[in-house]
Amino acid sequence: MLSLAACGGNNDTSIAAKSPTRTAAAAAIQAAALPEVNLPGYRSQYTIVASGGNFLVTDITTGQTATYTAGQRLRMLDGGVAFDLAGNAGQSFRLYQAAFDRAPDVWGLGFYINAYDNGVVPDVISQSFIDSQEFSSKYGSLDNAAFLTVLYNNVLHRAPDQGGYDFNLSYLNGTNPTGTTVTRAQMLRFFADSAENVSLTEPSTRNGIEYLPWGMTLPETPVATYVGKYDGNFGGTEGGPVSFTFNANGGITLTAHNNVSGADMSGTGTVANGGKLTAQMSGGGRTINLTGSVNAATGYVTGSWTFAGAAGGGVVVAIKAAVPVGPQFSQVKAIITQRCVPCHSVKPTIPGYPVAPNGIRLDTEQEIRNRAGQIYAVTVQSQFMPYLNQTGMTQEERDYIGQWFNAGTP
Ligand code: HEC
Repeated sequence: MLSLAACGGNNDTSIAAKSPTRTAAAAAIQAAALPEVNLPGYRSQYTIVASGGNFLVTDITTGQTATYTAGQRLRMLDGGVAFDLAGNAGQSFRLYQAAFDRAPDVWGLGFYINAYDNGVVPDVISQSFIDSQEFSSKYGSLDNAAFLTVLYNNVLHRAPDQGGYDFNLSYLNGTNPTGTTVTRAQMLRFFADSAENVSLTEPSTRNGIEYLPWGMTLPETPVATYVGKYDGNFGGTEGGPVSFTFNANGGITLTAHNNVSGADMSGTGTVANGGKLTAQMSGGGRTINLTGSVNAATGYVTGSWTFAGAAGGGVVVAIKAAVPVGPQFSQVKAIITQRCVPCHSVKPTIPGYPVAPNGIRLDTEQEIRNRAGQIYAVTVQSQFMPYLNQTGMTQEERDYIGQWFNAGTP
């Protein structure tokens, strides 16, 4: 008995070993496991976008780009991206849509890709979706007619047309004049790889299929690590500025402006421990779905986006906004040492000033702090100092001292 279950929570790692049904024929219709290209960073370090049948990957920390071909796979430190959209990864992805009417979770998808890669017969994989807990709790027990209706709903999002429906049902029931019977597992695969399902899932797979390579675990970085605001841009067929705000519970709020439509957009999303995120934002009659990840160490959010229900998409990159740094005393002291101390010192260095003018010395932190008000008056307000500006003080330096004084001389 094969324990292959279509879900996100099955921990059976021995599916391939247990499979009794691997055959030469199966090997012929399945792609071999693909070598993975290892990239040194986390998923959030790269943007990936489909480009002319290939996939353009940009390392946003270096700006370096690389092009990968359809069929290749990438492995980052926290997940993989598969470009075999017509191969094992694509078939696994589409089974989720046809059987469950949803996109796969990265863990479950990694499980099935691994099963395909290891030569488990496609009908066995397909049957495991039908036998799964999720399938029976969603649909209960189904006769052939109801089973077929589920497939039509999930893939076509409409009631079946009578002719096609009767035709398919006759195969399931074994009443087709050809005498051929088609199993439910075969019928599910037929729907999963139908042209309709390929185009239904295309917006979600276009820029590569994200999955968790089998045996890999996500870093357990808790969601609270990502708290903060991240500002950046989305680009592609449309684009503009976008900001993400992560809260401590893994919630995300988004605001954006679409420079093409001219509309403001807003939305919400969630991030999981480890940094994978999904979000949706709308405005101006458009809805954008976003998937990606955030990396606490680098402060980057990256991902890709697609229009819900329409062609178009691209990438998104944002970086954690720097917490604004107020004026620093060390900087004020550096300015004064350069522009004032040549005269206002216990030992002046400018010729003609044997002693500090008016006895005002600015050598130490204490001396500077004691005269903060006077310093502000003569350098910012009256600009009487430096005397004849012999030390070449700039307006930026005056402004900086002004900010420091107005901030309460921190
Ligand atoms: C080239 C020499 C020189 C430099 C550089 C210089 N000062 Fe002076 N400073 C003087 C002289 C000379 C006076 C006395 C002017 C007077 O009383 O007419 C003076 C006076 C002052 C006074 C007293 C002003 C008053 O109205 O009593 C303050 C405060 C002062 N300087 C601060 C500074 C600060 C702050 C800087 C740097 C931004 C600075 N000085 C740079 C030569 C200098």
